[in-house]
Amino acid sequence: MPLLYSSPGTRPVAVDPPLVLAPMAGITDSTYRLLLRRIGGVGLVTMEFVSSEGLTRGNWRTERLLRWEEEERPLSIQIYGADAERMAIAAARVEAEQVDVCDINMGCPANKVLKGCAGAGLMRDLGRARGIIAACRKALPTTPLTVKFRAGIDEERLNFEELGRICEGEGVSAVALHPRTAKQMYTGRADWSRIARLKEAVRIPVIGNGDVEAPEDVPRMMRETGCDGVMIGRASMKNPWIFRQAADLLAGRPYREATLEERRDLILLHFGLIPVAEGDQPKQVMNKLRTFTGWYTHGVPNGGELRRRIQSLPSPEAFREAVEEFFARRLAEAA
Ligand SMILES: Cc1cc2nc3c(=O)[nH]c(=O)nc-3n(C[C@H](O)[C@H](O)[C@H](O)COP(=O)(O)O)c2cc1C
Repeated sequence: MPLLYSSPGTRPVAVDPPLVLAPMAGITDSTYRLLLRRIGGVGLVTMEFVSSEGLTRGNWRTERLLRWEEEERPLSIQIYGADAERMAIAAARVEAEQVDVCDINMGCPANKVLKGCAGAGLMRDLGRARGIIAACRKALPTTPLTVKFRAGIDEERLNFEELGRICEGEGVSAVALHPRTAKQMYTGRADWSRIARLKEAVRIPVIGNGDVEAPEDVPRMMRETGCDGVMIGRASMKNPWIFRQAADLLAGRPYREATLEERRDLILLHFGLIPVAEGDQPKQVMNKLRTFTGWYTHGVPNGGELRRRIQSLPSPEAFREAVEEFFARRLAEAA
């Protein structure tokens, strides 16, 4: 049975395959989401988190984050904030955008966010969390609402099962758990047994997240935890084909690694999209090009050579030439 996000009154959204792109601030912008869509295998893509404060005060930076294309669907917009009224206005804005899903961030461990009692800070105050969820659900008559959270603030305060039950009671369509505590940030390992515990605690779909590194980890997480879907974040940066590869495994097919040609074409496609997305702002464009080339060349023979070379290149055109030349050499060597 396909994974379905639905609640009374909302449009049901099929997440098929049951694989979700994790929201990542500064990474999962429209360009990145489009690339993953074109590669295939991802059932739902998520926007980086959008501040309800910025959204309700007309901040232009926040508005820029909200750009998206039809081709990205199904698409989820994630909002965060500590005030139920402002969060409801932000949720109403998501409803008006007519995207497929609205997600609330209750997992961000960054101090700036925690101190404002947003993100994982809400796990310190489940009463406030409940108020925010109820207000957002009301503001989203047709769009399914999901909530993403951590295991708790620290090991002494693990309250993910309680928060899961609150979500279920307030008409949330699905929950996603990254089972580290806020205190852990990204250290240690994600304890998947907590995903299994959440699955026992609620009847709504549970999306497991945390430390999926290879395609094989996806069926393993589903088997070990009983989760209904898997959310992948960091691994998609080094291997954007991971969704397609995992989808192959879920369908009972072997998967294959991306070829050199596919890697080259992906980098060039991404590079073609970035200047448009960044409004041709040279500094931002160059920064993004360097970041993504760094990731995409992991595992490519002599990838370090290209990574070093691009540090000193002056323009996107020079960048493109360097990438083409690098791959032409690798392909000739492989022939
Ligand atoms: C650079 C970066 C930015 C992130 N931004 C967000 C965010 O905006 N909202 C959110 O809920 N989680 C955010 N996360 C957490 C991820 O969504 C995910 O829960 C976490 O990385 C664990 O999954 P992974 O092991 O597959 O990466 C971010 C993570 C990273 C590495």
